[in-house]
Amino acid sequence: MSKLVVANWKMNPQSKKEAETILSNISKTFKNIKTTELVVCLPFPFLYIKDKIKNKKIKIGSQDVFYEKEGSYTGEVSTSMLKTFGVEYVIVGHSERRSIGDTNSIVNKKIIATLKSKMQVILCIGESERDVNGFYLSFIKKQIEEGLADVLKSQMKSIVVAYEPIWAIGSSAKREAEPSEFVEIRIFIKKIISDLYDIKTANSLRIIYGGSVNPLNAESFIKEGGASGLLVGRDSLNPKKFSAIISVSK
Ligand code: PGA
Repeated sequence: MSKLVVANWKMNPQSKKEAETILSNISKTFKNIKTTELVVCLPFPFLYIKDKIKNKKIKIGSQDVFYEKEGSYTGEVSTSMLKTFGVEYVIVGHSERRSIGDTNSIVNKKIIATLKSKMQVILCIGESERDVNGFYLSFIKKQIEEGLADVLKSQMKSIVVAYEPIWAIGSSAKREAEPSEFVEIRIFIKKIISDLYDIKTANSLRIIYGGSVNPLNAESFIKEGGASGLLVGRDSLNPKKFSAIISVSK
């Protein structure tokens, strides 16, 4: 199966001109790459850029969504609105959204709404620290079980799980994660999914890694870590670095 590389631009860049330039540069290098699935998760105001990009292989994602269908929800964006822009993937439960209020139950509602609209979910999970007693494992288990409540087995093909340890994310990251740490969690996630659904569902689930992914460590998470793909923050805004990441993600 082809690897999935997801760009998460977060609240960047600050102008549509810059956004168009970055995406068009990414699009140029992606022309030569045939084996990777590429999704760029844009800030809402930049979703229109999809229509400007000639390279139709690039898929567009959003960084969040609201779970109600329509109505009086000032500042929110519905699944139908995303669909009219051609959005195919929705990041749900990113730690930066959880830190400003998204609980597991809100994450769950967003997942259910996204699945109903036939878009793919990228469910982000991850602990803030690795304690020696292993409590982070029960934290992750809870994020998965509560996040996937009422998600049917048949819908699991539309779910991607992104393991993003908070301590390895962003410019204030404490340190980079090791591929072996990803392996541990990948196996753990499979076990949880296998208990919730079955082994077949667990084996076909795509589990990707995110957190300070860069051109130097990207390959190790795929090769040694066995990741189905990568979720890239900062380096996805730098077309040179991002292209390097994409080309090793085979
Ligand atoms: P980073 O962000 O690559 O800048 O660490 C990853 C993420 O938060 O999705």
